[in-house]
Amino acid sequence: MKNVAIFISGSGSNMKAIVENIKQNKITGVKPVLVLSSTEKAGGLEYAKNSGIDTAVFSYKGLSSEQIADGLIALLAQYDVDLIILAGFIKILPEKLVKKYKGSILNIHPSLIPKFCGKGFYGLKVHEEVIKAGECETGATVHFVDEGVDTGDIILQRSCPVYEDDTAEILQKRVLKIEHEIYSEAIATIVKE
Ligand code: GRF
Repeated sequence: MKNVAIFISGSGSNMKAIVENIKQNKITGVKPVLVLSSTEKAGGLEYAKNSGIDTAVFSYKGLSSEQIADGLIALLAQYDVDLIILAGFIKILPEKLVKKYKGSILNIHPSLIPKFCGKGFYGLKVHEEVIKAGECETGATVHFVDEGVDTGDIILQRSCPVYEDDTAEILQKRVLKIEHEIYSEAIATIVKE
């Protein structure tokens, strides 16, 4: 059984989809032991608590990269975490942590990497740029986290159409639906390997 920590910053809809799939045994061999948020305002924290999962708020504010790494590593050790799932976690992980957990950190990005990814491409901005570029398809990507931003090996991608009258908000919803499917599929694949 792999102990999983899910990192969030916002609504946590990906985290919820993953936890629901674990509850329904659609993903086996993993146990969500911790939901960690970069802010106490993350809507997903309430859901995690109600699901009986421990939660933690870890703010980067005022901390050096070394302190952030050591703080996170200590917390993860406390929960004996094997796998880190970034689900809308807005902060960049310190290199020391990435090195320690290399091959055991997953992220999801709302575009077809290598398109529309890297620094500055997050939230609605990604979808705005997809529309601006006149793309007729976009999608989502689950990938391993390495020292770069959205540069790690790709585990799974799925595409969806972009329609002429799409707004960034409409597109975001369409892509999010795919995210909720492929993140759990990717985790199931990784755990089986
Ligand atoms: C998702 O679009 C994900 O791809 C990106 O951040 C967003 C998080 O959404 N990394 P949610 O908090 O899971 O609803």
